[in-house]
Amino acid sequence: MRIKDAVAARLKELGVEVRRGVSLADETSLGIGGTTDELLLRQYETIPDVIRLLADEHIPHRFLGGGTNVLIADGELPWVILHLPVAHPGMRVEGNAAYVDASADLGGMVTFCAKRDLGGMEGLIGVPGSVGGALRMNAGAYGTQIGPHVREVELYRAATGKIETLRGGDIRFDYRHTSFAPEDVMLRVKLELPSKPYKEILAGIKVCNEKRRSSQPLNQKSAGCIFKNPQGGSAGKMIDELGLKGHRVGDAMVSDRHANFFVNAGRATCSDMLKLIDEVRDRVRDAYGMELENEVIVWRN
Ligand code: EPU
Repeated sequence: MRIKDAVAARLKELGVEVRRGVSLADETSLGIGGTTDELLLRQYETIPDVIRLLADEHIPHRFLGGGTNVLIADGELPWVILHLPVAHPGMRVEGNAAYVDASADLGGMVTFCAKRDLGGMEGLIGVPGSVGGALRMNAGAYGTQIGPHVREVELYRAATGKIETLRGGDIRFDYRHTSFAPEDVMLRVKLELPSKPYKEILAGIKVCNEKRRSSQPLNQKSAGCIFKNPQGGSAGKMIDELGLKGHRVGDAMVSDRHANFFVNAGRATCSDMLKLIDEVRDRVRDAYGMELENEVIVWRN
């Protein structure tokens, strides 16, 4: 979607940079996505005004964070992208509390806290993406989830059109799911983390890194696991047992390393990836009577 010059000028007055015709394939870990205008918001405070302006002009929008758990449609997209690029995201530690901007890199945040002898998040070290994305979906790995550490979240709440602060206890964090509304935008978080010597944290991080390297296709374009695990089961194990590793639709392929990772093995399109997801879901349903739910978030046009 292309924004009219007059609207772009008003956005500029709000401190927003408009990038024309951006390919979202360049902004997602899957390397898939069509083209649209992108608005770079460098100051959180302007979000309510920017969204009001877009609503008045009937311009649909979506917020893109780290782009590591999203599958975006091909072609010219019918919405603009809002992005919060912060060159140096704020991170500070006070006692056992860590205050972190949502645009910070998740792994960078784990390391920053570790160096200040705050642990508990070792398992999250290799999870790609931003702190905001991790909050939104309650990212987890190797027995660690971010949710239990959250004490406060500052966010733009779509329901009220305002920037608000929620207390950790008022947010529900479930397996790869939270009570945030899809349109809410994470801005800052306060975490409470247990004290642990840096050396011990580092040892834990190394173990998780090795496990991840030995089982996941880290050097290929993916969005991590495509499906959530069904209760008591493993999506990857079932897909593997069906002999689907290496199965492909165009350049969208079930990883031959971990069967719940679907990779872009070349020039995969969104429609290739969606077909592959549907085929695999059908095969699992036929064989196991289980309905796999997407973990990846799909933005259709
Ligand atoms: N397995 C296979 N074949 C495969 C993949 C897995 O047989 O191709 C077997 C493994 O041998 C193991 C079992 O399935 O016995 C579980 O596999 P794994 O330990 O790799 O864990 P997972 O359940 O597939 C989950 C998360 C990952 C997270 C790992 C480690 C989900 C959907 N996935 O994977 O998270 O990194 O545990 O904690 O919950 C993600 O969410 O994107 C993600 C990668």
